[in-house]
Amino acid sequence: MERLDKFLSSQNVCTRKEAARLVKKGMVLVDGIPALSPEQKLEPEKACVMVEGKEIAYRKYLYLMMNKPAGVLSATEDKRHKTVLDLLPPELSRRGLFPAGRLDKDTTGLLLITDDGELAHKMLSPKSHVYKRYEAVTLRPVSRKDIEAFSNGISEGGQTFAPARLWQEERQDGPRALVEVREGKFHQVKRMFEAVGNQVLSLKRLKIGALALDETLGIGEVRVLTENEIIQIFQ
Ligand code: URA
Repeated sequence: MERLDKFLSSQNVCTRKEAARLVKKGMVLVDGIPALSPEQKLEPEKACVMVEGKEIAYRKYLYLMMNKPAGVLSATEDKRHKTVLDLLPPELSRRGLFPAGRLDKDTTGLLLITDDGELAHKMLSPKSHVYKRYEAVTLRPVSRKDIEAFSNGISEGGQTFAPARLWQEERQDGPRALVEVREGKFHQVKRMFEAVGNQVLSLKRLKIGALALDETLGIGEVRVLTENEIIQIFQ
């Protein structure tokens, strides 16, 4: 059981303070009956809550896609630097949200933010074989030798990386290296390129499993994932 005002704020309908005002004005119905108090209890999964005539579709967890900009940390809080959570608009922030899988401060692109710890764990476990695809601008063009080294897996200087897929694609402004890795080691893609004597100049994540970055999202923008997109993570 949960308090009505807490329920409404957890569902990003309004703040707890606003909930009290809405209840007082008779704008909130619980199972068709006007709510009497913001403190009244309800069962989130069973109750039918309507605010100003609109039914609230209960979401236990929130799944957000962000087009991460460079220069912000994939962390929940930091004393000195801006984090990805600082970029969330108030209507999409919720307690318990965290970035599922970190991108470096200078890496851009697809970042998943959720409060579902189980999904994040499953997504990040190497056992799940969820490939993450990155687009890299590299110091020198990718060679056949690099591609072979990535596909065999790299073991150098005490570090080992599982086999990864590497190929090139032509873009309007020149060739791009595309990489798919299923591990999530610290600076993984950058370190793999370094191991073959190359260097990453910029890195953008395009995909997690079959879930692709929505290119209509502006840099730093966020939106809620659809049910289908959540499934795509594991496809
Ligand atoms: N690999 C990296 O080197 N950096 C990232 O941010 C992600 C993968």
